[in-house]
Amino acid sequence: MALVNTIVGALKSAAACRYAVPTSSSLLQRHNRLALGNNYNGGSAFYSNITVEKKGKKNNVGFIQLNRPKALNALCDALMKELQTALSDFSKDEEVGCVVLTGSNKAFAAGADIKEMQPREFAEVYKGDFLGFWNSISLFKKPIIAAVNGYALGGGCEIAMMCDIIYAGEKAKFGQPEILLGTIPGGGGTQRLTQAVGKSKAMEMVLTGDQISAQEALQFGLVANVYPVEELVDKVMEKAEKIASMSQIATGMAKEAVNSSYEMTLAEGIHLERRLFHSTFATILKLAINSIGSCNMGIINAKLITCKQYIRNVPLLDLKTCARIMRTAPTCFYVK
Ligand code: CAA
Repeated sequence: MALVNTIVGALKSAAACRYAVPTSSSLLQRHNRLALGNNYNGGSAFYSNITVEKKGKKNNVGFIQLNRPKALNALCDALMKELQTALSDFSKDEEVGCVVLTGSNKAFAAGADIKEMQPREFAEVYKGDFLGFWNSISLFKKPIIAAVNGYALGGGCEIAMMCDIIYAGEKAKFGQPEILLGTIPGGGGTQRLTQAVGKSKAMEMVLTGDQISAQEALQFGLVANVYPVEELVDKVMEKAEKIASMSQIATGMAKEAVNSSYEMTLAEGIHLERRLFHSTFATILKLAINSIGSCNMGIINAKLITCKQYIRNVPLLDLKTCARIMRTAPTCFYVK
């Protein structure tokens, strides 16, 4: 009987265990949480093709690393959707003033996922506007920097070009090799590459599939600077922290103005720039009023602009400080 009881007890606890076993999705979530450690998830998602965190001394840089090493970060649908979610989270995060997008030392990204693309038919890609949503990266409002080590090919080169600045590691390779697959760039390559390197070089790259080195990319203006492979991310983080420390309103407007040069005529672009420039006075003036508090309102007429500090870091100013500000004009503070 004791044996029977033992067997019955064991069966009961086995059954209890079975019901306690987490479902595969909850296991996956738990695994992801553990694997992600303190990684940022913006409150809305866990990722399996990218890692996402906030970095920098002030925790104000959003850092996204493409993470499909076995496929050289090929941009499958799932990865691109995760990237879109991460950017959406960072766009809502007030603390984040700049985002860095990077890959591994071997590959930033080797392009759209060829294995995923291969079975697709015209009707499906046309009706589903395949790759259409990729463009959301270029619509991201905050500054975003691509830190490219290794291959940035096809879609990899294209998403780097959707970023505001590209920095490259010395061994980076850029290319639009789609022609070698019997197709053409589909993520903006023919347009953005041409704007970045000029028609002749872009044509050469798009028509031959030839890759260019980091040094050539620098020479042609595709990248802003080249760093040793191991130093790239640190150097880019320095730039990102610097950008993130600026007024988000000003960086947003500066980005909008520069990007408008791609879309508008010179006259329209200059008009937009001036209007944006004028609108920065609204934030500056407000700040001046906030900052001077009970001071002589005459300071508001002092020369404004040229900003070195954040309003958040600036306590209400006393009269003496205001007087000093007036002496050292043009100086002002801006709204973050
Ligand atoms: N899609 C899917 N898988 C890819 C891939 C891609 N774009 N690029 C590389 N991989 C995979 C390979 O299949 C391989 O996986 P398996 O071991 O499972 O077969 C793994 O990554 C490693 O690749 P290789 O063995 O080829 O690595 P390598 O060092 O010898 O060569 C490479 C590196 C030169 C980048 C080479 O992988 C390559 O040429 N890749 C394809 C690049 C390409 O054509 N990109 C354009 C894609 S189309 C596109 O992007 C359209 C668009 O405009 C959006």
